[in-house]
Amino acid sequence: MKIILAPMEGVIDHHMRDILTAVGGFDTCVTEFLRVVDRRLPKRVFYRLCPELTNGGHTAHGVPVILQLLGGVPEAMAVNAARAAELGTPGIDINFGCPSRFVNRKAGGAILLKEPQRVEAIVRAVREAVPSHIPVSAKIRLGYDSTDLALDNAHAVEAGGAGFITVHARTKAEGYRPPAHWHWLARIREALTIPVIANGDINSVDDYLRCRDISGCDDIMLGRGAIASPNLAAQIKQNQTQHMHWPQVAQLIHDLAGRMAQQPEIRERYILGRVKQWTAMIRRQHPAAGDWFGEIRQIKDYTQLMQALELQAHGSTASLTQPG
Ligand SMILES: Cc1cc2nc3c(=O)[nH]c(=O)nc-3n(C[C@H](O)[C@H](O)[C@H](O)COP(=O)(O)O)c2cc1C
Repeated sequence: MKIILAPMEGVIDHHMRDILTAVGGFDTCVTEFLRVVDRRLPKRVFYRLCPELTNGGHTAHGVPVILQLLGGVPEAMAVNAARAAELGTPGIDINFGCPSRFVNRKAGGAILLKEPQRVEAIVRAVREAVPSHIPVSAKIRLGYDSTDLALDNAHAVEAGGAGFITVHARTKAEGYRPPAHWHWLARIREALTIPVIANGDINSVDDYLRCRDISGCDDIMLGRGAIASPNLAAQIKQNQTQHMHWPQVAQLIHDLAGRMAQQPEIRERYILGRVKQWTAMIRRQHPAAGDWFGEIRQIKDYTQLMQALELQAHGSTASLTQPG
């Protein structure tokens, strides 16, 4: 079984990848998308998105980080894929799922699912642009506003030469609303020869088992569930359901804020926003976080925020690498 940490723009950056891969259970990460328009992007853009490139494309805990590209022009995608390969990425993923209106208007992301031939041309161009030992993959949804082309798009990804495909089991029109249609994953898996990674609404060990039963996919990608339960991947790997305790999670949030504060270009307001964002996302799993969220919503000062976080984490002696 392989577990991939999902790309999540504005939520899972390199700090978050470091923190979550330290907790454990993940085999691979995918970066947030790098938007390609019509030209080769400067190297610094790649390093900013994926600082792990300076570490051979791995997190500090040795988990490979695949770089994700988004764009609709095969030639431009190819030159940027080649650059990412030169910089040492251990893989390239292509985003055919982003629902953003801005991105879709510029012919990138989920809108491409209306044109399976274009999907195939993009995957092929990227595949041909990078050395054969670097895996190329694609992430799709079931379609743009219907599932009519789901199988055509999946076939297009395979025909273009991808080594695996991740399927977020919803259409673009369905946004992020439950339920994810796991039975569609089975249809796609049966139609393809490449591995299919299941994605969408896997928020617990029980969800994983049900998704596996319905889809037949062993391999999964976790997004929001891994933010809400930082040890979810480890739980699934070990088939146990013990969550981290709230003080341990508070320690992770403190860690995130502290790491961001070391980057002078990051503004305190942004750090406060990210801490509140993470806390809001874990309220369902940790009622204590819910109570505390009411308190930190009012905080506008970084030092005060760190003190409040320390108080929540106080007493936590568990190692970050030992969930439970
Ligand atoms: C805030 C946010 C940002 C996301 N950014 C990306 C992205 O950059 N690339 C991508 O392929 N998917 C992106 N996704 C989709 C997730 O990777 C994932 O497919 C989706 O959240 C469903 O999985 P989940 O139910 O496990 O969260 C994003 C999702 C969210 C909620």
